Amino acid sequence: MTSSLQLFTFSLLIFFSLCQSQPSHKPKALVLPVSKDPSTLQYSTQLSLGTPLKPINLVIDLGGRHLWMDCYTNYNSSTYQPGHCGSAACSIAKASLCDLCFGTPQPGCTNYTCLLDPENTIAGVAGYQEVATDVISLQALDKTMSDHGSWSQYQLSTPEIEIHIGRGVIIPKFIFSCTGDWLLRGLVNGTKGMAGLGKTQIGLPSQLSSMFGGSLPRKFALCLPSTLRYTTKIGAIGLPSTSKANGVIVFGDAPYLFYPSYNKSKVIDRSQSFSYTNLYINPVSFAGVYQGRPSAEYFIAVKSIMIDTKPISINSTLLSINKKGIGGTKISTIDPYTVLESSIYKAFTEAFAEELKAMKISKVAPVAPFTECFSRRMLGFTMVGVDVPVITFVFRNQNVYWKVYGANSMVEISPEVVCLGFVDGGLDTKTSIVIGAHQLEESVVEFDLASSKVGFSSSLLEEEAVCANFMF
Ligand SMILES: *[C@@H]1O[C@H](CO)[C@@H](O)[C@H](O)[C@H]1NC(C)=O
Ligand SMILES: *[C@@H]1O[C@H](CO)[C@@H](O)[C@H](O)[C@H]1NC(C)=O
Ligand SMILES: *[C@@H]1O[C@H](CO)[C@@H](O)[C@H](O)[C@H]1NC(C)=O
Ligand SMILES: *[C@@H]1O[C@H](CO)[C@@H](O)[C@H](O)[C@H]1NC(C)=O
Ligand SMILES: *[C@@H]1O[C@H](CO)[C@@H](O)[C@H](O)[C@H]1NC(C)=O
Repeated sequence: MTSSLQLFTFSLLIFFSLCQSQPSHKPKALVLPVSKDPSTLQYSTQLSLGTPLKPINLVIDLGGRHLWMDCYTNYNSSTYQPGHCGSAACSIAKASLCDLCFGTPQPGCTNYTCLLDPENTIAGVAGYQEVATDVISLQALDKTMSDHGSWSQYQLSTPEIEIHIGRGVIIPKFIFSCTGDWLLRGLVNGTKGMAGLGKTQIGLPSQLSSMFGGSLPRKFALCLPSTLRYTTKIGAIGLPSTSKANGVIVFGDAPYLFYPSYNKSKVIDRSQSFSYTNLYINPVSFAGVYQGRPSAEYFIAVKSIMIDTKPISINSTLLSINKKGIGGTKISTIDPYTVLESSIYKAFTEAFAEELKAMKISKVAPVAPFTECFSRRMLGFTMVGVDVPVITFVFRNQNVYWKVYGANSMVEISPEVVCLGFVDGGLDTKTSIVIGAHQLEESVVEFDLASSKVGFSSSLLEEEAVCANFMF
């Protein structure tokens, strides 16, 4: 046992010194694969963890405060370290509580460790749990703008992630929290926790950036895959539903390059295609056990919503965040569809239905959770999905617009039925507008933590591409 541990430590040392002696191994960007589960509509990712490295699947939580996982089941890693009270991990995690554990000693149950409060935002459960560190590994992206033409494609969804020197990057002391499997309730089968991309110091974007001494900028881009086959003017260009990873999260600085589905050698650069709007801090978080600290979620300021250039009427009080943290707009990967406070939902759906009535499109029976459903056969097709009036979000600063077309506004229920993919959040919502995942799919959304901005871009379908066509 001891000798194999020493041998391993020795080979790790060789590995790290290799990395250190070759500055080219300081990646500019890291990537994680994203897959969507068609039944739960959850997005998950895979990274490697522990010694020896083993792949683990985690549900992606854009606003999550940190990465948490079940360490009680099949966790067997020689590099696991509990966050002893007073350790660097505890101070970086801002975890001040120190506790004993009265269960069987094991990862997740160690005496005198500091605690964090991981939350399962799908089931709405949270608890105080042990802080830990271990080795993680993810893929590096060494591409620069001048590298056009020299990619090697590789499968993202292989069950065993291989560590390619120069491609796989090992991060020695990644901070997360360890729970029992009771916190996994409602998460898609095969996942062991959640990967929090929130704005805290130990959220993935900031933690990865600080691991590389800032050479990896504190920003990331999300390209969420869909499970639909989009029917457009030129035929089907989305991928049919598979379990294959077909989206990406890119941390750091990389060009966002895709190939169009009709020619794998052609390069489409989406790096300059963003409209940026400011990120805001909601002073009151409702996440976790301890409520009242600033939120780690991504809040933006919507000024109005237009349907085919006509603004709908919204009570403006709902659009700003008050002192209690109520109101405003945030972005979420946990909500599959955009959720609107009831009065906004009512104005929005009425205006939309009115437009379709004017287009003489028949309304059909609602399909829950949606209320506005229409005959799909009566609608035309465009490059960006069914031909319905464009929905435009107008942001507060500099009148920035984000346009949502058919592929993202509508949900294709069957060959006969499409529904407006927004849901009614009720009257006592905490956040008035929660921009959900369906509206973000098959486009690149960039979150820049250093300059507190979010960049929206238009659908990749415009270029006959999908997130799965990302070039590594
Ligand atoms: C943990 O891993 C070690 C070394 O790989 C192995 O000897 C041991 O049997 C494993 N323990 C469990 C409980 O799987
Ligand atoms: C922690 O300390 C308490 C009190 O000394 C003891 O009862 C308990 O078994 C210890 N727990 C672990 C995980 O070592
Ligand atoms: C999850 O997987 C287990 C074991 O493979 C299976 O019994 C269970 O039905 C699955 N649950 C869902 C929701 O798919
Ligand atoms: C595909 O794109 C490449 C690069 O732009 C171009 O050289 C090639 O001719 C294209 N192939 C076809 C079949 O259009
Ligand atoms: C606007 O919303 C706020 C907060 O819900 C409410 O107090 C106020 O009465 C509303 N104003 C109007 C004109 O409906």
